[in-house]
Amino acid sequence: MTQAEKLQLVHGGGWDSSSIGAIGHVNGIARLGIPDIDYLDSTAGPNAPGKNPTPLPNPLALAASWDPLLAHDYGKHVATELRTLGFSGALGGGINLSREPRNGRTFEYQGEDPVLAGTMLAARIRGNNELPMLATAKHFAMNDQETNRFTSDSVIAERPLRELYLRAFEIAVKEGRPAMVMCAYNKVNGEKSCENHKLLTDILKGEWQFPGYVQGDWALSITDSVRAANAGTDEEQPGSLNDDKPDKFGLNTFFNQKLGRAVEAGQVSQARLDDMVLRKLRMLYRSGIMADPPKPGGIIDQAAGDRFALRVAQESIVLLKNDAGTAAPVLPLDRSKVKSVVVIGGHADVGVISGGGSGSVPPRDGNAVECRTPGANVLTIPLCANWYRSSPLSALRAKLPQANVTYFSGEDLNAAAAAAGQADVAILFATQHMMEQVDLASLALPDGKADPANQAYDQGALILAVAAKAKRVVIVLENGTAVTMPWANKVNAIVEAWYPGVKGGEAIADVLVGDVNPSGKLPLTFPNDENELAQRNISATQTRVAHAEGLRMGYRYYDTLGTAPLFPFGHGLSYTQFAYSGLQVTQQASGEVKVRFTLTNTGARTGAEVAQVYAAMPASADEPPKRLVAWQKVTLAAHTSRVVSMTVPPARFAIWQDRWVIPAGNASLLVGGSSRAPRFLKRSLLLKATKLPSSQDPA
Ligand code: BGC
Repeated sequence: MTQAEKLQLVHGGGWDSSSIGAIGHVNGIARLGIPDIDYLDSTAGPNAPGKNPTPLPNPLALAASWDPLLAHDYGKHVATELRTLGFSGALGGGINLSREPRNGRTFEYQGEDPVLAGTMLAARIRGNNELPMLATAKHFAMNDQETNRFTSDSVIAERPLRELYLRAFEIAVKEGRPAMVMCAYNKVNGEKSCENHKLLTDILKGEWQFPGYVQGDWALSITDSVRAANAGTDEEQPGSLNDDKPDKFGLNTFFNQKLGRAVEAGQVSQARLDDMVLRKLRMLYRSGIMADPPKPGGIIDQAAGDRFALRVAQESIVLLKNDAGTAAPVLPLDRSKVKSVVVIGGHADVGVISGGGSGSVPPRDGNAVECRTPGANVLTIPLCANWYRSSPLSALRAKLPQANVTYFSGEDLNAAAAAAGQADVAILFATQHMMEQVDLASLALPDGKADPANQAYDQGALILAVAAKAKRVVIVLENGTAVTMPWANKVNAIVEAWYPGVKGGEAIADVLVGDVNPSGKLPLTFPNDENELAQRNISATQTRVAHAEGLRMGYRYYDTLGTAPLFPFGHGLSYTQFAYSGLQVTQQASGEVKVRFTLTNTGARTGAEVAQVYAAMPASADEPPKRLVAWQKVTLAAHTSRVVSMTVPPARFAIWQDRWVIPAGNASLLVGGSSRAPRFLKRSLLLKATKLPSSQDPA
């Protein structure tokens, strides 16, 4: 391979250089049989306008399913659609922890817990890897807010860095084996992520033995050829054919001529350039792309897409609240009793909302809702939400043929409230658009001021007005992060549907009428208000983002304080009830811990429970009160029991003390249906001090 050919493989061909509309493109080398590489964003399906990709529920929804098999199938499904359209690189593996739930990209990620997020992404990547497809884990690392996204500096101590933020990536990298890791725009402890030798070379490629390649995030993540290449970045995107001329946005590029000159001058070694190339070739072979590159021009199987999208939505919807009061709980709607239903707001008559930015998936047949104030932010990311044509109203009408189901848009608050007062039940849809590049000002449901492009009225005021008049009120949320709910105790039921994808309306109706028993659990804490977040405000001017809370992030914060959030991590109700009994814990000589207990469906319907195992670490370890170490999603018919067994690997008990160690002392295991289960099964466990060999580091 000539030097020019080597350089050609480590940078993209520039914006718009892909003949099939990829966001990133590497020119192959025909003489050597090396195919072109075309990367596409595919957070919730291929971001391929005009090609009819399937918009799936977003990754935070997927995390709410707590089902690694579903995540596996999600990865395989997205890879199948990407290949059908000719793409070879899947840029969908976001896994930044939701330390800051106002982060505009929270919907693209998988929640606040490193083991849950890492395990789910690993499964997705394994599904991806069943096809010849390059998968990624992004954005490495600490890319936990969008404000000042190109300049912010995440400042954090080593222990929380390792135990939380890097641990999610470590699990995804070791168990999922992605071809690529995308380094982030932000700095970590003063050093740009893509120029950060410690992150990329010492940890990712050194300690974790990652054999794939590091891809820079799109422009602006690399500021210096020598620093980035020597730190461990292996590819620049979108790159340029001419580094000596700024690109169409006036941005500089670094991995073409500039890198060539740096190698000639000895500032970057030839061995480093060869390693960059070798890593890419290794992944092209390992993935199967070298032998079988995708061909463009295929047709998406929309029926298969619909079926899968529906399955994901059905498994990921979380029933947050379902008050019994003196009567039966309002959900599921009783077909024999409910004669009149008022559906209000959220454009439920036409469709469901989704998130924006590179992680968006275009609607198949035009946007279901017209944008109020079209516009774009500085990076030309549209402010208008995508709405998919999947009407919850139509789906409900089909499922409730005996009932009179009427619709009010919500813009006339009094009309909606008056109608609600006449009906057996009011179902109010609330939506929240979020997107890359912009953080939410607040976790409250937006009004027209907070989101002029997509919101016509004050949703919080509408809920209060309807709740004041209605006999019974159900709130259905379509959004991509935690929501604050000053109105929560005024309504009877709350259903969290996330961004539910192209069959979202049908899945919501399935849950409302009980054709599907909800089984999702929260992958992130819902706070009472923003004062409980790790940072009160997201500063527009202060680029130093101090992670002063250390390990006390998400549920770990509430557990440390002993206070209750609005809805805890791991929470989610069902239309049946589950009882836990008979916990046995046995320690193996290997350090593995076997957990066995009996789970009983004590109710009258089939349902699935996510049984969760938490470890309370020895006091001397100086850890927050508990951490998730295992879980299993179990489906049980009414009035049946099953013995559930799980094996907790020793590394789940590790803490970072300049290396991974298991601390000695009395720990305990807690088993229940949420991080705040009213009654945990509990057994103690004596941990023996152990230094983990690096091969066992915590994956
Ligand atoms: C985002 C990445 C995305 C890339 C290509 C960047 O701005 O941070 O997540 O893959 O653009 O669209």
